[in-house]
Amino acid sequence: MHVLVIGSGAREHALLLALRRDPEVTALAVAPGNAGTAAVADQYDVDITSSEAVVALATKLGTDLVVVGPEVPLVLGVADAVREAGIACFGPSRDAARIEGSKAFAKDVMDAAGVRTARSEIVDNPAHLDAALDRFGPAAGERAWVVKDDGLAAGKGVVVSDDRDAARAHAASLLDSGHPVLLESFLDGPEVSLFCVVDGETVVALLPAQDFKRVGDGDSGPNTGGMGAYAPLPWLPPGTVEQIVAEVVEPVAAELVRRGSSFSGLLYAGLAMTSRGPSVVEFNCRFGDPETQSVLALLGTPLAGLLHAAATGSLAEQPPLVWNDGAAVTVVLAAENYPGRPRVGDAIIGAEADGVLHAGTARRDDGAIVSSGGRVLSVVGTGADLTAARDAAYALMGSIRLPGAHFRTDIGLAAAEGRLALDG
Ligand code: GLY
Repeated sequence: MHVLVIGSGAREHALLLALRRDPEVTALAVAPGNAGTAAVADQYDVDITSSEAVVALATKLGTDLVVVGPEVPLVLGVADAVREAGIACFGPSRDAARIEGSKAFAKDVMDAAGVRTARSEIVDNPAHLDAALDRFGPAAGERAWVVKDDGLAAGKGVVVSDDRDAARAHAASLLDSGHPVLLESFLDGPEVSLFCVVDGETVVALLPAQDFKRVGDGDSGPNTGGMGAYAPLPWLPPGTVEQIVAEVVEPVAAELVRRGSSFSGLLYAGLAMTSRGPSVVEFNCRFGDPETQSVLALLGTPLAGLLHAAATGSLAEQPPLVWNDGAAVTVVLAAENYPGRPRVGDAIIGAEADGVLHAGTARRDDGAIVSSGGRVLSVVGTGADLTAARDAAYALMGSIRLPGAHFRTDIGLAAAEGRLALDG
């Protein structure tokens, strides 16, 4: 099978490594990729937001399966164009990708499907902002205000704060730049990322994971695209994944089919485990980053066969997934000043070791690997349990040098120490 992966992050690096382990895969390509993925796949520098460019590349390469990593090409309809060209594509249509591209659409689908989620209001008129803020957050007896960009913002459009001025300033700046704002009630409880391979009404859940969105240890500082993740979740009671599939993912998948926007690809449910049960924080229309790096490190089932089955309508006939025992921990190395404007162009020492997955990296003319983005790379450690996986990940991180870079030291720590539990 010839497979083309679209994207350039550590998520795509993890997808490529998992695809390469599948004996069915005879050729692997990536567009545009990064300095690390160049060692795994043939690399092509095309504009991945252009349907024409992606279809032309997939056709030229004789591709059997295109796997779209990031949300932006999906929201723009790249998967539709690939399918229209007669090539199997893992990734939802533009219509179905609205589950991530428009939070208002996602809320409407969840309402219709009877799925528990935060109370919310869209504000698109600055004159209505103060009254709306009074209906949320500490003003309404909740722990914090949750202010989101209604569109795509790579995880950085969200501010969760008990400081009304900070919440208001974020909302006002979004409105000033013409973006509608979504205000949500605060959902208490540990978060779970559950990735499901979905084709129409068929849902196959992967291992549950947890990611760490704040930049600093102890969940301090601003939100980021994700600073680390681990899988599986030892504190999650048995049967919870099945409960989330039955109460959340299957009803949403069925509602999308009912609306004529059937989902085919990876449906990512981000949930808070509240005292009332799992409640949806957000849906994404693609694999999450950095959870994918941990989840795929434990997958025993050949990945290309699974994704091809979803892309070609035979997911329901697939055997149950096989998982390796143990745990996986991913820690993200971020450039100085990330999630603000990152420092780039510095040489990275140790970036070519096994278990290092590249994101914001590039190969300089002199052969050095240099930083080129905010989240520079992920290290992945596996082990018999979370403690062993953490030790492996942090030992690997200790061998990497990048001036000014930072990472969290507490990824998976509370779970490894048994300090996470569900209320009620
Ligand atoms: N892990 C967060 C995301 O992928 O959006």
